[in-house]
Amino acid sequence: MTVTDAPVLPHGVTEQALEIVSRLPREERIRLISGASMWYSEALDSEGVASFMMTDGPHGLRKQNGDGDHGGLHESVPATCFPTASALAATWDLDLLEQVGHALGLEARTEEIGVLLGPGLNIKRHPAGGRNFEYMSEDPLLAGRAAAALVRGIQAEGVGACLKHYAVNNQETNRMGLDTIVDERTLREIYLTGFEIAVREAQPWTVMSAYNLVNGEHAGESRKLLTEILRDDWGFDGLVMTDWIATFDRAVGVHAGLDLEMPSSTGAFDARVSAAIDAGELSESDLDTAAARVIALALRVAAERASRHPAAHVDAMHADHHALARRAAAAGSVLLTNDGILPLAPQGSIALIGAFAEAPRHQGGGSSLVQTTRLDTALEAMRARLGDGATLTYAPGYDAGTGEATDAQLQEALAAADGADTVVLMVGLPTSFESEGYDRDHLDVPASHVRLIQAITARHDRVVVTLSNGAPVDMPWADAPNAILESYLGGQASGSAVVDVLFGDAEPGGRLAESFPVAVTDLPSNHDFANDPRLVQYREGPYVGYRFHDTFGVPARFAFGHGLSYTTFELGAPKVTGRGAARKVTVPVTNTGDRAGSTVVQVYVHDPVSTLHRPVQELKGFAKVTLEPGQSADAVVQLDERSFAVYDAADGAWKVEAGDYELRVGLSSTEIVATKSIRLTSDDVVTEAARPASAIATASEFARLIGRPIPASRPAFPLHYDSVIGDLDQTWLGGRVKAVLTAQIGKMLPVGDDTPDEVRTTMEAFITNMPLRAIAMASEGKVSFAQLDTLLTVLNATGLKAKRAARGEAGLT
Ligand code: BGC
Repeated sequence: MTVTDAPVLPHGVTEQALEIVSRLPREERIRLISGASMWYSEALDSEGVASFMMTDGPHGLRKQNGDGDHGGLHESVPATCFPTASALAATWDLDLLEQVGHALGLEARTEEIGVLLGPGLNIKRHPAGGRNFEYMSEDPLLAGRAAAALVRGIQAEGVGACLKHYAVNNQETNRMGLDTIVDERTLREIYLTGFEIAVREAQPWTVMSAYNLVNGEHAGESRKLLTEILRDDWGFDGLVMTDWIATFDRAVGVHAGLDLEMPSSTGAFDARVSAAIDAGELSESDLDTAAARVIALALRVAAERASRHPAAHVDAMHADHHALARRAAAAGSVLLTNDGILPLAPQGSIALIGAFAEAPRHQGGGSSLVQTTRLDTALEAMRARLGDGATLTYAPGYDAGTGEATDAQLQEALAAADGADTVVLMVGLPTSFESEGYDRDHLDVPASHVRLIQAITARHDRVVVTLSNGAPVDMPWADAPNAILESYLGGQASGSAVVDVLFGDAEPGGRLAESFPVAVTDLPSNHDFANDPRLVQYREGPYVGYRFHDTFGVPARFAFGHGLSYTTFELGAPKVTGRGAARKVTVPVTNTGDRAGSTVVQVYVHDPVSTLHRPVQELKGFAKVTLEPGQSADAVVQLDERSFAVYDAADGAWKVEAGDYELRVGLSSTEIVATKSIRLTSDDVVTEAARPASAIATASEFARLIGRPIPASRPAFPLHYDSVIGDLDQTWLGGRVKAVLTAQIGKMLPVGDDTPDEVRTTMEAFITNMPLRAIAMASEGKVSFAQLDTLLTVLNATGLKAKRAARGEAGLT
């Protein structure tokens, strides 16, 4: 036998791609590692490498054939809008999510898309995060498994998926220049684990780096994140692209493992990359690796396309997908409370109140905005469902767009309620309340919605409230209605799905993938969230969501994992088999009610004695079981080493301590129905580390946790590449430049009187938060980086003079 020492190829690089690269001059290789336009990669005609399209998004295709933008402004082709990630994750149904992935993949393939930009799976650190509707969960295991299921489905159709936004992208405020300070253990256990699971389980073709910085480094320039962890540790063998206009220093990014810059910056960085190679700051082989990954992906896309067909009948495909979207919306609907009023009988008189019944709140604003193929409304669906069997009265009660109400609207709603046996009241968050681009500054639903809830529940004893929102809202009124159904942003079939659930034609299959706090001020993450525009300290460490509520005994209003059913289930004694950390938990489940239904058996691990402080319990497995009345089945959950491990930051290793562990079997994080203890043996020795005295580390505790002094927030002045257009106001001249830029950008964007609120607000936030480096990147060669540097020097010089003059310093005007 001969053993050859074949050179080991870098992850994501094929021999064929490397061979092509070896024939290319440097300029060609540099050209390849930036996009050709808003959505396309560069082609390499000489080698027969075609360009491919990447486009949004996570719950439906947003393919723009005309002008492109990443804010959901210009037209896109009609596509199925599935429920957004909050609702998808709330299904806890990995088979269903895989089906949704297939549907997304098929629509993408039919539109000749190479890579679909989703799913998003960042942790919901704070319920007011503007993009929470696009993210899965506060729990990394659930987020990672849900994302993996979607990726499997999408890629099985020959289209690449893109995990985003890697990493630690948990707020929108100044997302382009925000430095997130997080200790190593929390980073690994909470913020990276979901990505790790999705990478290991589903091997996505691509990953998108986040806008923000992580511990002082731009996420897209962190070799630790992009190469050491993602590729060397987890074995990712695909391509990493930037988020749109996220590039800061392209050469540093290439070295870090950032392969493709998106969208095109029309060569703005090319000379700098070449100069970095000449200066020995970037190695030619790093460039080759990035270029080879782009080529390898382009070839992969082409090969998949050659071996597959688009959908033969697009209308039939859309009809199927609409039905799937309807099922998914019901499966992600969470029945928060129910005194037995639900499901409703289709009889008597029903008052349907709330403008969302006519103008559904079905998706969120920003880059994930889908032009739907159809849009079901609850009003039409309910009319159809009731037929002549019942009387239906409808009153909007408020304006769907603004959430405001006139007295006349309120009176009309009350009159409708008074005349009905049962009231269904649809409330939630109007579109402009939550979007990509900005965070919410409170968790309230509009005052008019609260007024309706209070007034109607005060005079009526059969009131069902349904909620349409992408993330938790405050519900001080939660005890007043007879039932509350959280429908989330259920996609284009949300209107019919909510009616399906209300009348029991579908069950409310969802369980919360996030805690609903009693008050946002209870949360330790609230101590530092969107209150400093340039720096955020994750002082709460791992105590996010139920990890906080359960450990510190501060109950949530609705706990993680909670959700009621229309039937009842009995869980038998769990059986634990297996050896070491590889344990199988088997729980017999019986449907003891008289309706078919599903439940989610959740397994949490509690470590009674630990060297490190740990959340009191953490989700380590789950199984959704669907049963006919009287039927039984086993819920089976497999545990492994990571189910018990902690990350030893001092040693850079996952470790399992010897000792007893309690396996807690439950139906939510607070409804534990059985426990089982196991003992593990292990030689692992975990290094002692700082243990904060409360859920919010003090400054000195946090400094110890991060192993360095807490960095200062980057000053707003002098202006730099990461300063945003909104920062220009700091100087008089800057204010003038801002006015010119805003007018220029405004001309390019078709915002008019009929532009929907959420799109307008999102666009305004996008412009204000656009980093100054984007002036060079998006100017199509009109402004070079050298010119931008000059502009910044002038602005900073005049600004400094102005500041000194304001302080009355002599000799400087
Ligand atoms: C978003 C990404 C999106 C991209 C392209 C960015 O602003 O953060 O999630 O995929 O735009 O639209």
